[in-house]
Amino acid sequence: MHPVRLPSSAAERHALSAWPLTSPTFTVEAELGKGSFGVCFAATRCSPFEAPCRVALKAVPRQELAHHSREVETLLALRQAAQHPHLLRLHEYFLHEWPTHVDDARQSIVLWQSFPLYDLDLKKWIAAHGWKAEAAPGRDRHAPFGLDGEEPRAGTEAERIASAVAVGRQLARGLVHVHGLGLIHRDLKPENVLVDGGGGARARFVVADFGCAKPAGRPDVERHVPYVCTRPYRAPELLYASSSYSAATDVWSLGCVVGEVLCGGLRLFEAAAAEEAKELQLPAEREEIRGSATQLLVLLRACGTPDDAEITAMNPALYAQRPALQGLILRLPPRDAEPAYCWRQRLGAALGDHATSSRDARALAQLLDGILRYAPAARPTSAQASDWLEQLAPPGG
Ligand SMILES: Nc1ncnc2c1ncn2[C@@H]1O[C@H](COP(=O)(O)OP(=O)(O)O)[C@@H](O)[C@H]1O
Ligand SMILES: [Mg+2]
Repeated sequence: MHPVRLPSSAAERHALSAWPLTSPTFTVEAELGKGSFGVCFAATRCSPFEAPCRVALKAVPRQELAHHSREVETLLALRQAAQHPHLLRLHEYFLHEWPTHVDDARQSIVLWQSFPLYDLDLKKWIAAHGWKAEAAPGRDRHAPFGLDGEEPRAGTEAERIASAVAVGRQLARGLVHVHGLGLIHRDLKPENVLVDGGGGARARFVVADFGCAKPAGRPDVERHVPYVCTRPYRAPELLYASSSYSAATDVWSLGCVVGEVLCGGLRLFEAAAAEEAKELQLPAEREEIRGSATQLLVLLRACGTPDDAEITAMNPALYAQRPALQGLILRLPPRDAEPAYCWRQRLGAALGDHATSSRDARALAQLLDGILRYAPAARPTSAQASDWLEQLAPPGG
């Protein structure tokens, strides 16, 4: 296909002026993955004066463009800042029709973005390393980990610890840069982390998918929607419907991702939907909050009920602004953390003796202990988390 570039803003025109005046063509190849908004393909980019190169092409169909208008802006802001080794870099973008040879119902004009092509995303990387613990026959895949003394099938503890250090260290570096530019990513999760360079701690990890990213603004004046970030990685203040959250939400998600690598692919806060639904007994008219309510219940089971000071720190306007959610929260009896849901138990079960004998495992658990707190201000910033992880880094990593 022959894309037509349509500069529409000053920032865009500025960015375009740095590009070569050749007209590349792209041959779309295999599908790499689908997310909530777009679909990503491997493609070959050919231009008259450059060697062909393989790229990733992300297509966002027209009906989704309204949501994604900010993605390109964010990526351009990142492009204009110094290049960062742990953030996905936008090569170019253009509007073009959906390729006719791709069998899909999507139609007409699509926003295409091209990026360096990575080997795979972190979710697939974890699975490819044979770490994905499998449920015992007859057991819910999402049942709390470590119940009944069962051992998951997983990679060695030492490998998982080394990989968690590498993933955490590199993603924290990327987040420091994002937050330094005044942005919040708002959807950090393994599917939105790309990986290059094969196995183990030597791989390179980059933060990708800026489709939900937004300027942080001033927390006291800027209003954000709370229904962002994929549920298992969603910070508690979002579940408590805060509309004035900060970059601390990304730090929570970072903790979840690091914990998931340590646990061999099991999420720290995973709902066993059927069980939570039973306890919630949501009336049909509250169906639309079922997902968030279920996730909230998982969090309460994992971390215990927050105290008043923590609720105020998460969302001072909770009781005034959200009667439906307030009703639900008040209906749930106060509870202590339950061992089967507690993330520390999960780490303990996943790491065995290494949880105490490995210095890095102890340091990672200490970091998660600091991150996985209800009060956003009690969490380390991305810069503090990064400093902590750098101390664990192997030289040159
Ligand atoms: N540059 C890339 N290289 C390789 N795979 C990619 C690349 N970008 C995205 N992908 C794959 O495509 C999936 C969807 O891309 P993403 O940008 O997350 O779209 P969405 O906004 O729809 O979630 C990712 O989870 C990943 O598996
Ligand atoms: Mg995505």
